[in-house]
Amino acid sequence: MSRVAEGWTLRCVNCGATYESDVRSYVCSRCSNLLELVKRGSVSKRGLYGEVGQPGVWRFRKALPLEAEVRPVSLSEGGTPLVHVSRVGARVGLKWLYVKNEGQNPSGSFKDRGMTVSVTRAVQGGAKLLLCASTGNTAASMAAYAARAGVTALVTVPAGKVASGKLAQVIAYGAKMIRVEGDFDAALKITLKVASEIKELAVMNSVNPYRIEGQKTTAYEIFEQMGQKVPDYVVLPVGNAGNISAIWKGFKELRDWGISEALPRMVGVQAAGAQPIVEAFQHGRDSVTAVQPKTIASAINIGNPASWKKALAALRESSGMALAVTDEETIAARMELASTEGIFVEPASAVPIAALKKIGLKLGKGATVVCICTGNGLKDQESVKVQLDSNPLVSGPDQLASLLAKTA
Ligand code: F0G
Repeated sequence: MSRVAEGWTLRCVNCGATYESDVRSYVCSRCSNLLELVKRGSVSKRGLYGEVGQPGVWRFRKALPLEAEVRPVSLSEGGTPLVHVSRVGARVGLKWLYVKNEGQNPSGSFKDRGMTVSVTRAVQGGAKLLLCASTGNTAASMAAYAARAGVTALVTVPAGKVASGKLAQVIAYGAKMIRVEGDFDAALKITLKVASEIKELAVMNSVNPYRIEGQKTTAYEIFEQMGQKVPDYVVLPVGNAGNISAIWKGFKELRDWGISEALPRMVGVQAAGAQPIVEAFQHGRDSVTAVQPKTIASAINIGNPASWKKALAALRESSGMALAVTDEETIAARMELASTEGIFVEPASAVPIAALKKIGLKLGKGATVVCICTGNGLKDQESVKVQLDSNPLVSGPDQLASLLAKTA
């Protein structure tokens, strides 16, 4: 396996064992927990933000674990807008509510931030076949970056549980798709098992710590977009729990490197039918009990999250919060964000907004709050289509005019 980049170490999040080369399947050989990439020394503010050129993930190259000469497999990911959503903010009792619109990434979700880094690393190490299990977005993203790199992509998805827009992406990007009986947790389990036995293959799920490195750049961008300020709260959906770990890592690095002084409080939101991390956090437990997941927010229909340990640490270290929302609340929030602010997100990405309906007032009117809206609404049209059929149908200008007259 390839040596880790100069100045970086792979470290077990549980026992602290360190590795100087990448580890197959990215689990600690001593205790089977996940590994994270740790940078020795720090990056200056100038070093981090000083690069001119294209916005996005690779602008932060000095904070990424790849040597300067490695050519990125990139589609210009990251650099997404931070939008002040004052109407929704007013409805939830917050003056300074922002949406980080990750749906504007090349394949329509935040996964692209991590994928550009992990695919670059895999290709650098000679991988010819990329593999992931997915609720849809990881698969779409990996398929896009595999196409860009000219390598083969193979995805496993829970049969019948992935939004059709995401499946269309996987097919269009030319990946091979295997459907697994059961849910995402079953797909991930068998995928990781097989991956540990085949050599030329690289796993692109968020157990791969290079994914986390790319995703942490969300924090760097938010800090800059808020005028070099750390928000009071970062609210985001939690599924397999890679992203909350990544964004928390990014904010911690900014603080540890002396770039920022504060840390945000992380608010993790899950669907009521798939909330193992919320349960563990709220009951003060040190482990997560797997559940049989069931939610319309198919991206986070996950009952046994791989990065649970890192997620609980992020929530606890940040004095954060974890809560669940129902599918009805999620769908209502999705429609509200689209119809009042013009931002159409997929159901999983609406759970932070749904959560703020419950806790917005508690955070304090003047609090700065950033919601990470993780995926584009076009990917998942299933829950909106129903309403299309009930719209009026006309065949000529007179009918249209009379309808418009009633509407005006
Ligand atoms: N939002 C969206 C739109 C997602 O696709 C996912 C995860 C999450 C939130 C949760 O992020 O897993 O890092 O906690 N989707 C994965 C996938 C599981 O396969 O696409 P997480």
